[in-house]
Formats: sequence, structure tokens, C-alpha cells
Amino acid sequence: MMSESLTRRQFVRTAAVASLGTLLPAATATKVSVLADTEIGTVRPQFHSHFAEHLGSCVYGGLWVGRNSPIPNIDGYRKDAVTYLKELGIPVLRWPGGCFADDYHWRDGIGPYGKRPKRVNLHWGGYVEDNSFGIHEFMGLCKLIGAEPYIAGNVGSGSPDELRNWVEYCNHPGGSTLSDERIANGAREPFNIRYWGVGNENWGCGGPMTPEHYGEMYRIFTNYMRTFGGTQLFLVACGPNGNDMRWSRNLLSTIGAGRLPNGWSTHFYEGGDLAPTKFTTDAMYKQFRVFPNVEQCIVAQRALLDSYDPRRRCGVILDEWGVWDQMVPAEERSNGRLWQQSTMRSAVGAGLGLNIFNRLADKLYMANIAQMVNVLQSILLTDGPEGKNTVRTSTYYAFQLFKAHRSNMAVKVETESSDPLSLSMSASKSASELVVSFVNPSATADLEVDCTVRGFPARSGTARILHSADLNACNTFENPDALAPKAHNVAVEGGRVRLEAPALSVITAILHV
Ligand code: AHR
Repeated sequence: MMSESLTRRQFVRTAAVASLGTLLPAATATKVSVLADTEIGTVRPQFHSHFAEHLGSCVYGGLWVGRNSPIPNIDGYRKDAVTYLKELGIPVLRWPGGCFADDYHWRDGIGPYGKRPKRVNLHWGGYVEDNSFGIHEFMGLCKLIGAEPYIAGNVGSGSPDELRNWVEYCNHPGGSTLSDERIANGAREPFNIRYWGVGNENWGCGGPMTPEHYGEMYRIFTNYMRTFGGTQLFLVACGPNGNDMRWSRNLLSTIGAGRLPNGWSTHFYEGGDLAPTKFTTDAMYKQFRVFPNVEQCIVAQRALLDSYDPRRRCGVILDEWGVWDQMVPAEERSNGRLWQQSTMRSAVGAGLGLNIFNRLADKLYMANIAQMVNVLQSILLTDGPEGKNTVRTSTYYAFQLFKAHRSNMAVKVETESSDPLSLSMSASKSASELVVSFVNPSATADLEVDCTVRGFPARSGTARILHSADLNACNTFENPDALAPKAHNVAVEGGRVRLEAPALSVITAILHV
């Protein structure tokens, strides 16, 4: 019997600490299932990929501080950023934009630093960049953090010749003027870059073009983007803004089934009505209700592509996603454009997205959260481009909790409700483990989860939780580890897993046979 003086929330917490056997009776629990014998597809590590644009203090100041900087660095790369990114593991990194990509001319970023031209960043505030971060520096970063490079090429203001030459400069082994220039600039070995985006948001900042016009441009540009050396290119077409089917249909019919791209990008941000640390519960719920649209978008774009490409050789890429809140002008002024704090709400948003990707493992090819450092839903924040402090955000830790799914086989889950504000789940298995993630987006409902497991004889398990009852809680430079995952109790017995999922939590349980 619950004591009069003990609230239900206190009781649940006390019970968990005392003994897992004393969790509330199953009748009050949220009943869910993992059907480990029903496979969906591989959780491609690329679902956890990232995006770094020349925007605010993402590249300059965030990732690249220069060799002579007083900020601790490794050959010009911010040391703490490199450490944290390596620790998390970055499957793919997309660069240099974003909108910036269609105004970027790659030759500006090669050769001796002093001689590189200074250019105005047209899209993001009109400040001047010295081009000290170009393709060689980008490849150096990818090497340091173990990421596969993904270049977004310039279609909007560039030419087929310029993009074709960039591919040759990067990938030809040597002996041509362009590849010898790369070698003279310090890279003996070709970069062997596979992923090439053919423009960015060409319906908007990279145009604006009609789908028919972009389709013609796509055909012309890609005609000259060839395999130099042994690296087969993976060409990504600029797909729709969100789930804009009109763009998709008209573009596909212009490109034609014979010239289908390897990747089909869509950008889907989850907008927020308030400043990051000032969210109300209602504003948070409004933002969370956008996530089912992301799910529908991936399903719908895949279905349309299937009608051209039943063997699924062209993959759906969620090229940019993440919570996009209202900016705080003072923070933007001191820290750079689109500098956005990441809170417990943001981490829940990340968890909702990552659960969707696992559940759509057969339909999705890659997803790049925007952006890596200091911009939008970043995984790292610095106190401005010149600040020495680097913190891991709540979003970093949400990604860390989902890392255990990488390369596993996603399996089916069943939840009680499909309401976007109810418990969200996904699961995946390897030969020896079943990994289950739970995200509770409610601001008020602490849940006891009673999860039936079919097709995996789980006997023991461990869990980690990222949680704060305060939706606006965040990691700051004064308190960098306010939000970080902690060990969490989980009871595993008789084909059932029981754990608590407090309001606003992201949990991953790893079960063993
Ligand atoms: O990520 C910020 C911007 O959002 C990108 O530059 C653009 O592609 C998108 O509109």
C-alpha cells in the first residue's frame, strides 16, 4: 500500500532503488513489446551522421581555430571538439553547406593561406571568411575524427566544369594537372570521396529553381561527374523541402528512371516557437508533434521512389534535420549566427528522431543532424568562436545513448498508442544483444514500462538514462555536465523487461542472453 505521505513519483523512485521486484503491478504499467523475430533492416551507422556548414561559429571557431590560436588545437582543429567527436564516432560528415554550398567555389580554399581570397559569406550575415578551411582542412578533420566525407557541390552559382574539376582534384590518383595540384598542396594520396551532393536546397537558397529546371541541371552536372581512380561516386540529388511531393514527382519525371541518383535528399527541421531555454510545455508538445510528419515524409518519399526504383538502389537521405528554435539575438551576436542551446527537450527530440530512423531502417539511407558545433541542434557548443570552453550538449548524449544500435538489425516494436506524445520506442539486435530505446516525451507522466520480448531470450540487462524533469535544463559552460547519461535500473525476467521511464527521458537498455 502506498503511504499517504509518499507521492506516486517518489514511490516509484524509491521502489526502483530498493528492488526492481517491487515495481508497480503490471496493470498500471505502459505495456509495449519488442518482436525480435520480426526484422526491419540494418541500422546503418549513417543514420547518426552530421553536417557542418560555414555558418556562424560552426566551422570557423567551432571546429577550426587555426594553428596559431591560443585555443588548444591539433594542427588548427579545436582539440576538445576532436576528442568529443572521436569519442562519439561520426559516420559521415556533410560540408560545406547548406545554403553556403551553392555560393562556394572550391578553388578559394586551396593553396597557401595568405594567398587564399577573402570572401563574403552571402547567406549567413555577410561576414568575411579567409578560406583557411578548405577541402584539405576538411579532409584532415574527417581523418582525425574517423568520418566519411560528404561534399555538397555548387549547382546554384557554379558550373558543371567547376564541380567536375573538384571531383578530379579530389579523386584522381595523380598525373593530371588537377590531381598534381592536389599533390603539390600536400595530399599525395587521392581523397577518394564517394558522397557528392548535386546542389543544396535548389528549390530555395540554392536556386530558386523549378523542379524541371533543377532536373535539367542535375542531368547536365552529373554527366561530367565521373569516377576518377577507383572511387565510384554516390550522387545525391536535391529532393524536396520536407515532403513536397510536387517537387519530387516533377523532378523524378525530369531526371528519368534511366538516370536515377544514388541518394535522394530531403530537409526536415522541427521548428520551435520559443527561445531554446524558454520553452513552455505547450510549445514543446507542438514541436514534438512535428516528428510524425518526418516519419511520413520518409515513408512517402520512399514509396514514390519505389515506383521508379523497386530495387531501392536510390536511398532516401534526411540531409538536414533537428529542432530549430527561435534565436536569442544577444547569443547570436556573441557566439555566431544560429547559435542554439540544446536542452532536455532537444534531447527528447533527438531521441524521437533516432527512434523513427531505427523503425524505418528499411527505408532510410542516411540522416545528418544540423549542425555539428554551435549551430541549431548541435552536439557541441563553444562560448563563441574565440571561447576556450567546449561542452557536450544534451543532444550529444542522446546520440551516445543510441550508438549501441549502430549496425544492428532493427526489429519491430509495438506500443500502446501512436500519439506523438506517448512513449516512443525502437529496438535492434546483434548476435548477442538486444538494444531497446525508450523516449518519454511527456512533461508530466512518469511511466512504468512493462515490455514483453519475443524472439530473444533475454536474461539480464543494463540501462542508461538521460533525464531531467526540467524541459529547459541544459549543459552550460559553468555546469557542463548538468545533463549526462546515468546508469538506470532495469529488471529482466521471464521474457519481460521492466523499467521506469520518467517524464522527459531518453533511455537505452541493452539486454543479454
Ligand atoms: O542548416 C541551416 C540551413 O538550413 C542550411 O544552410 C540550409 O540548407 C537549410 O535551409
